[in-house]
Amino acid sequence: MPIATRVLQPGDAAVTERAEFAREVLEGLSAKPKHLPCKWFYDARGSELIESIMDLDEYYLTRCEAEIFEEHAAELLRALGKKPFELVDLGAGDGRKTGILIRRFQDLGARFGFFSIDISESASAKLATELSRSFPALHGETLVADYATGLASLAERSRERKLVLFLGSNIGNASFEGARAFLRELWLSLDDGDLVLVGADLKKDVTTLRAAYDDPRGVTAAFNLNLLSRMNRELGGDFDLERFRFYCTWEPRTSAIESYLISQAEQRVTLDAVGRAFDFEAQEAIHTESSRKYSLGELDELALAAGFVREGLFRDRRGWFADALWRVEKTKRRAPTREEPARARR
Ligand code: AVI
Repeated sequence: MPIATRVLQPGDAAVTERAEFAREVLEGLSAKPKHLPCKWFYDARGSELIESIMDLDEYYLTRCEAEIFEEHAAELLRALGKKPFELVDLGAGDGRKTGILIRRFQDLGARFGFFSIDISESASAKLATELSRSFPALHGETLVADYATGLASLAERSRERKLVLFLGSNIGNASFEGARAFLRELWLSLDDGDLVLVGADLKKDVTTLRAAYDDPRGVTAAFNLNLLSRMNRELGGDFDLERFRFYCTWEPRTSAIESYLISQAEQRVTLDAVGRAFDFEAQEAIHTESSRKYSLGELDELALAAGFVREGLFRDRRGWFADALWRVEKTKRRAPTREEPARARR
């Protein structure tokens, strides 16, 4: 198979993951207001549902980014220069978005290897199979590791320039601070001249934004409610899905669609694996996700705060979505430290 899976962090990942799930659920449901990290959406069913969301007419994000790749792949390649490079995908999912870029790059005669980094062995193996089938000439690996370990391993084995992908508005699921901290860690793991491509959904009229997350077919609602099913299955919970309702709203103060599951009645839910019962008042909410939208100025601010130099910016025809291309420059500029406040660099 041209794309192989390599496990860099062995161990019983499922056991470790379940323990972390239990810990974060305990923390989130004990807090006031209650919240759950959105990363737990993505079990097998959640991954199927996000694929269905991406196919919804209302969920424009994926199509906008696909259009950007179709239209601007040649410009992106120009920024990379003529030498072979390595395409490194963080959060590839089923590889749908990256697949468009790979196809365009191959059509344009680029020479590159493909690497993804994902902590899930099953997702990495599936991606390797998919990409090998779609792109028999593509070589590379899907690495089972956290991002820092995966990037360190890639840096050790080759000096080739890297284009790191963080696509699909994944950056929007973090706060500005969280995004900056993540990007700063990324900057620290990369070499001078490496590039990152960050996909971000842009601010636009509220009706369009709300429609993308409050779809009439209820796929996004099912995606959120699946989190309760997952807790029932994996943590021995007794959530009654009929007694929770999905609600989302645009919040101008966070520039985000904020998503919730709202208890329809006063109720008690028990989670055996957590060893606790949790009480809900009627209409009490669990915050499940923030989907933050950026302005171009905020994207620039983020790049600067994390230490990157802006290299390019690509938008779809409607200007709804942006892929920002940032370069790591380590020779001329002082490296940012992990603790350094963003504004101090301006
Ligand atoms: C993965 N992430 C960027 C999606 C988003 O738009 O925030 C997840 C999603 N949630 C509801 N619909 C899609």
